[in-house]
Amino acid sequence: MKKAAACMLTAVMLVCMTGCGSLTNGKRIVRVSHAQSETHPEHLGLLAFRDYVEEHLGDRYEVQIFPNEILGSAQKAIELTQTGAIDFVVAGTANLETFAGVYEIFSMPYLFDSEEGYKAVMQDTDYMERVYESTDEAGFRVVTWYHAGTRNFYGKKPIRSPEDLKGMKIRVQQSPASVAMVKAFDAAAAPMGFGEVYTAIQQGVIDGAENNELALTNNKHGEVAKYYSYNRHQMVPDMLVANLKFLNSLSPEEYQVFKEAAALSTEVELKEWDRSIEEAKDIAAHQMGVEFLEVDVDAFKQAVLPLHAQMLKENPKIGELYDHIQAVNRQTKGEP
Ligand code: GCU
Repeated sequence: MKKAAACMLTAVMLVCMTGCGSLTNGKRIVRVSHAQSETHPEHLGLLAFRDYVEEHLGDRYEVQIFPNEILGSAQKAIELTQTGAIDFVVAGTANLETFAGVYEIFSMPYLFDSEEGYKAVMQDTDYMERVYESTDEAGFRVVTWYHAGTRNFYGKKPIRSPEDLKGMKIRVQQSPASVAMVKAFDAAAAPMGFGEVYTAIQQGVIDGAENNELALTNNKHGEVAKYYSYNRHQMVPDMLVANLKFLNSLSPEEYQVFKEAAALSTEVELKEWDRSIEEAKDIAAHQMGVEFLEVDVDAFKQAVLPLHAQMLKENPKIGELYDHIQAVNRQTKGEP
């Protein structure tokens, strides 16, 4: 798998050295990279993206989708999108934190009070467009978002209370805010790429990780970690990121088609999400022997709530979005 990925990467880089945005049969090849399997809702959303673009601009563009980190792990694939070797990549906001500080906000634990509030914020395209422009200087821009569920802890032993996390070594995404969160639980944070997690748990390098339920099945973590605790600490979206030069090279009509295709991919992804979570839970519980634990969410929340004030103090870039999200939280609860 690693070897195949390396070959593919070399191929893409070679193509790029001879001129990014290669043409085949007179068509511009548009490369889209993501980290998930072909049954994941994001892949299904991206198939709709491809079909929409090719239906409207098929004489000029051919969209090629590369799943399973074939073109590189999130960090690597973002770099390739910066240079234009790849045109689009799906990346969690955790991976964008180092490019634009505002994205740190999504790693703040217990930021959203409900899934309803979370979706209301993310679907507000006018507001989010301003956030999306924050990586322009880095050479890429977000074009849409994907639901990536609620993140929860899971491990080789049951985590029933915040105290159980003490001393455990937990994999987090390569995000400073997530590292701080795990430390606030008195656990040790092990930041690493998504593709390395399975072996790290299996070999005992880490005691557990945190993610949505699809990690148990699509990424097979349920084979090596048998306890999944619903402590619900984060809702971290995934973003479809585009190379900025590519976006700017499009005519206004073409740009419109790509934007519509992106919006459609989100619609499809959201529709697929709940069904795939139910399916994943069923497979994890009945075929992999994973035990799902309901825990006292408030106990976990109280342990890390001081991080809100700390993060707001350390990173002024998240202040405005934080206030906006708190207002949406209140609205969703019917508060003034
Ligand atoms: C989820 C998320 C990915 C992220 C991954 C991870 O699968 O959708 O964007 O990279 O978790 O924890 O690394």
